[in-house]
Amino acid sequence: MQGQSAAVFGGSSGIGLATAEHLLRSGVAVTIIGRSRERLQAAEAQLEGCATPVALDCTDSNQVAEFFAGRGSIDHVVISLAGGAALGPFTSVAEAEFRATFDGKLWPYINVMREASPRLSPEGSLTLVTGASALAATPGAATLAAVNGALEGMIKTLAVELAPLRVNAVSPGLTDTAAWQRIPTEIREQMYAKAAAETPAGRVGRADDVAMAVVAVVGNPFLTGLVLPCDGGKRLT
Ligand SMILES: NC(=O)c1ccc[n+]([C@@H]2O[C@H](COP(=O)([O-])OP(=O)(O)OC[C@H]3O[C@@H](n4cnc5c(N)ncnc54)[C@H](OP(=O)(O)O)[C@@H]3O)[C@@H](O)[C@H]2O)c1
Repeated sequence: MQGQSAAVFGGSSGIGLATAEHLLRSGVAVTIIGRSRERLQAAEAQLEGCATPVALDCTDSNQVAEFFAGRGSIDHVVISLAGGAALGPFTSVAEAEFRATFDGKLWPYINVMREASPRLSPEGSLTLVTGASALAATPGAATLAAVNGALEGMIKTLAVELAPLRVNAVSPGLTDTAAWQRIPTEIREQMYAKAAAETPAGRVGRADDVAMAVVAVVGNPFLTGLVLPCDGGKRLT
């Protein structure tokens, strides 16, 4: 991938930031996208100034269109946006909360995919970070299952429709990132311990684990239409 370019949407934190780091190590010129300028600056510092930060909100299709209009050809796009989810018993999630979960992840992903796909280099790739909830039976996570299932459901169709552009997803299990920092430490640790005990790999995921899977998919010119689980084997238990 030496000399190629990539835009990582959600590259200022967690899985996206780790992916940016691994892509840079592979010699790719990386642009990282997020909303918060502070988070982007912190990420830029962590990446030792090697990535180009761009602040925009992917819920706004105009901002996404402007981003792509102002750029030359890009080889690879990775989408790793976390919009927040309404979790809890199915009947306790209000319609507005259910819709907000779609607004926070599904539509921003679609905004990026629609603008990116006609502009990506034909030898390039589009890689979505989805989520194991799409295929798991996790009480309280029906909203996430619906959103990630919707995204994963598009992969095969788009891999054929947009060919030769490659379209793939990496589907992480529970991964220790900033996304979970907002829940109290004690509850988070209990959640991690329970998940680790149910996972053949014996621990929850790290952003690095998922980033390595993303980079493997991005860098392999013969992989397309794939949803790659990266969950330490949790789906098997
Ligand atoms: N962590 C897990 O356990 C886990 C498990 C399965 C799937 N996933 C999926 O993996 C993806 C990444 O999650 P993560 O844990 O790495 O989350 P994270 O650490 O919170 O990172 C999310 C990134 O998305 C950016 N972002 C969110 N909404 C945005 C928007 N509208 N426009 C532009 N940037 C936006 C954030 O920056 P700003 O907030 O500054 O915009 C940040 O850079 C998500 O799709 C998540 O559902 C995560």
